[in-house]
Amino acid sequence: MEFADVLRRRKMVRSYTDEPVPPGVVARIVERARKAPSAGFSQGLRFVVVTEPDGRRAVANAGGEEWYTERGMSTWLSQAPVHVVVCVREEDYHERYSRADKLQADGTEIEWPVPWWYADAGKAIMLLLLCAVDEGLAAGMFGLHDTAACREALGIPEDVTPVGVVTIGHAGAAKVEGSRSKFPWKPLEEVVRWEHW
Ligand SMILES: Cc1cc2nc3c(=O)[nH]c(=O)nc-3n(C[C@H](O)[C@H](O)[C@H](O)COP(=O)(O)O)c2cc1C
Repeated sequence: MEFADVLRRRKMVRSYTDEPVPPGVVARIVERARKAPSAGFSQGLRFVVVTEPDGRRAVANAGGEEWYTERGMSTWLSQAPVHVVVCVREEDYHERYSRADKLQADGTEIEWPVPWWYADAGKAIMLLLLCAVDEGLAAGMFGLHDTAACREALGIPEDVTPVGVVTIGHAGAAKVEGSRSKFPWKPLEEVVRWEHW
């Protein structure tokens, strides 16, 4: 698929059929997405791929599936045949930036201007979404209302933080619009400034 088509087709899908995604396709998506860039090549990214129904139900609960069903939406979180829980290990960044080539002149670790580990998780999320579309699949994303419950259900260690969940599958019939349908894009000039703010 042309990259421009992948971009055009990419949108958050909140309805899935029961049709499974072949394991080889899931493997290809995560292997591509894990190549997302990371600060200093810290590679703090971790994915937990969940396809078993019990695991997906637990992740969906941690994502507040009830919140959606109370608002008339289907159980799209647990229905999606594949969940990729995108996590980061912040300590990978501190370890990397404590190595000789990254230390400051006074021998200390940099003061982090922004928590790049979350930015890097965002890049991986975007790659997962785009790679899924490239495979002819639908994808969405949900945040975790209860990070501790997700951690507990999947056995994620304390030093690894689940950031969000990407859903992958075949699009269902229901067209469930999210926030994008509620208001328009901000004017381009508000978002993009040229040469100076
Ligand atoms: C970090 C992040 C968290 C999101 N969390 C949720 C969520 O919890 N539930 C949901 O239905 N959509 C969620 N979305 C989807 C956004 O609502 C959606 O990306 C936005 O409305 C733009 O629509 P589009 O992605 O289809 O263009 C999330 C998106 C991002 C990037």
